[in-house]
Amino acid sequence: MEQKKVLITGVAGFVGSNLADRLLTEGYQVVGIDNLRYGVKEQIPAGVEFHQFDIRSKDMYPLFEGVDTVFHFAAKNSISNCQNDPVETADINVTGTVNVFAAAVQAKVRKVIYAESSAVYEGSTVFPTPEEAEAPHTFYAASKMATKYFADGFVRFRGIQATALRYFNVYGPRQDYRRSIPPVMSAFIIKLLKGEKPVIYGTGYKRRDFIHIDDINDFHILAMNDDRTNGKVYNLGTGKNYSVKDIYGMIKKILNVETEPEFKPALEGEADQNLADISKARAVGWEPKTSLEEGLKSSVEYIKNYVL
Ligand SMILES: NC(=O)c1ccc[n+]([C@@H]2O[C@H](COP(=O)([O-])OP(=O)(O)OC[C@H]3O[C@@H](n4cnc5c(N)ncnc54)[C@H](O)[C@@H]3O)[C@@H](O)[C@H]2O)c1
Repeated sequence: MEQKKVLITGVAGFVGSNLADRLLTEGYQVVGIDNLRYGVKEQIPAGVEFHQFDIRSKDMYPLFEGVDTVFHFAAKNSISNCQNDPVETADINVTGTVNVFAAAVQAKVRKVIYAESSAVYEGSTVFPTPEEAEAPHTFYAASKMATKYFADGFVRFRGIQATALRYFNVYGPRQDYRRSIPPVMSAFIIKLLKGEKPVIYGTGYKRRDFIHIDDINDFHILAMNDDRTNGKVYNLGTGKNYSVKDIYGMIKKILNVETEPEFKPALEGEADQNLADISKARAVGWEPKTSLEEGLKSSVEYIKNYVL
C-alpha cells in the first residue's frame, strides 16, 4: 500500500528537516516547501520532493494535491527580528499561515498541524504554564496567537482538522547555528569548542524548559495519527526548566573546560522563565524521553562532526 503523502513548510529549517528525516524513515512520501530565507538547502534530507516557494504565494497550491497532512513550520521566528519588523512578522506568520490553510482546504487536505510557540506565555505568571494561560507580549507572540484564531476559523468554517503545537525551547541537530544570536546551547558549545568566550545575555538566571527534537517528533507522529488531537493545542516541553547558567555549567563539564562567559545586557522581550505544563500532551500518551544530559552530549557530537 502506498504510504500517506505529507507536506512540510519550512522543510529547510531545524524542525522541518528533522521531521522530514523521521517521516522518510517511517516510509511516508514527503513534499517540502521553503523559500530558503533562513533555512539551508543542504540540510533538506535526500528523498524530500523539494519546492522553493514562499508560503505567501498562491503558486504553491498545486503541491497540496493528494496530501493527507500538512506540517506548517515556516515562519519569521526570532523574537528580536520580529520586534524589528512587525509588518513583515504579520505578513509571513499570519498571512502566510492563512495562505497555507487556504491551500490545504482547496486541495482537501485532511489535517494541518502547525507551530505556535511558548512565546504566547511570555507575560504569564502561572508556572508550570497550562495552555489556557496565554499572555503574548511581543510581535512574534502576537503573530502566533493570531495564527491560532485563523486556524480555529478554518476548522469551524471550512471543515479541515488542525492541531496547534506550542514548542518550548527545542534543541538538537540542525539548530540554526548561523544566526547573529544563535540558540543558547549551540552558541555555548560552538564558542567553547573553538576556545572562545561565550556570551550570556542578562544575568544567566533566566530559566528555560528545553525539549529535544526527537521527543517533538514523537508528538508530530502522534498528532498526525490520533484524532483525539483534532482541534486542540498542546504544550511541548519537559515540565522541568534550567537556568542559562546551569546549562553553561553542564556544557563546561561535558567539554571539560573552565572558560568563563562574557555577560552582555539582556535581550528585549525575553521572559524570566518558561516552564510547560504538559499534562494535556501526556493525556494522549506522549512522554518526553531524552534527558538534558543525553541531549547535550549528542548536540556536542553533532556540532563537532557537522558544524565546525
Ligand atoms: N525551534 C524552537 O525552539 C521553536 C520554539 C517555538 C516555536 N517554534 C516554531 O516552530 C517552527 C519551526 O521553527 P524552526 O526552529 O525550525 O525555525 P527555522 O528558522 O529553522 O525554520 C523555519 C524555516 O521557514 C522558512 N521560511 C521562513 N519564512 C518563509 C516563507 N515566507 N516562505 C517559505 N519558507 C519560509 C525558513 O527559510 C526556514 O527554513 C516555527 O514556526 C517557529 O516559530 C520553534
